[in-house]
Amino acid sequence: MPFYRDVTVENPLDVMKASRASAMRSGRNSVSLPGFRMTSSAISARLSPSASPRLITLASTVVKAGETARASLKRRRVTEMVSKAPRDYQTEIDVTVERIIVDQMVQAFPAYSIKGEEDVGNRVADENAPVIYIDPIDGTTNFAWGIPHFGMTIAIAEAGTIVAGVVYDPMLDELFSAELGGGAYLNGERIVCVHNADIENVVVGAGLPVPGQVKAVPEAVYFDALKRLMANTAGVRRLGSAALSIAYVASGRLDGFFEDGLSMHDYGAAALLVTEAGGRVSAFNGGPVTANGDILAGNMSLHPWLVEGLEGERG
Ligand code: IPD
Ligand code: CA
Repeated sequence: MPFYRDVTVENPLDVMKASRASAMRSGRNSVSLPGFRMTSSAISARLSPSASPRLITLASTVVKAGETARASLKRRRVTEMVSKAPRDYQTEIDVTVERIIVDQMVQAFPAYSIKGEEDVGNRVADENAPVIYIDPIDGTTNFAWGIPHFGMTIAIAEAGTIVAGVVYDPMLDELFSAELGGGAYLNGERIVCVHNADIENVVVGAGLPVPGQVKAVPEAVYFDALKRLMANTAGVRRLGSAALSIAYVASGRLDGFFEDGLSMHDYGAAALLVTEAGGRVSAFNGGPVTANGDILAGNMSLHPWLVEGLEGERG
């Protein structure tokens, strides 16, 4: 992780570490970062005991950013939003939250590239630099309609592999986090997928696509896969935030999830949660995830049955 270790400019992480050490010496329990005030032990207690300073920074940032979104939830009119494309909205809070996150990322990780969904502060650093993926509000349609189920998510990729990620539900104050090889956590508790393939008793999440969203398989195959779920499982859920739905697979609240046309912003951090929780994330055909964004996450036992459902005629 050279880009993390080699940063020599004054880095808020160093400030935080020094401040934390001094706070511990003085018996205080809080740390100040520029623009942030957090209780370090409170954030750390919500992560793996071995969480790196980098993960602590992602976590404190996403929790702080979540306050703004939570406080701004209300039904919005279409005229109050930007339509990036038909049925693809951006509220003023998507931009505000991304700005909060970007500012903190720039201070903490000055040598990293940034790819935020709303393009507020995107930048390309050295080609070998880690990349920070940001979705300031995953579930913008829910948020814009005043539905209290949405999340903010940040992931860090090194050489194309997600190595750290957080997904935060500000309405429930639920913080999901993972680092590669370090397990997945929800508010400080280790989470694992529930390995259940008793088809009648599984609950599966799935995206209900907007026109043109399904590309990995013919639309009819996708709809048949949904019908197959309705006919055979305990229930299908369309929750409206892919990041939270995939995080729910990691925590066993869902047994599986699939949706087409997602981006790394949506699924990067949550996919790491699933693999760290012992589950499987693949493309619809069971192979490696590609840039197409067809994502199928499941507990290990159920995953093959979900792949079969998306094979169409052959399934
Ligand atoms: C969306 C949400 C939604 C999913 C869409 C995504 P956004 O992300 O994850 O659940 O159905 O496909 O685009 O636009 O709210 O960040
Ligand atoms: Ca978004």
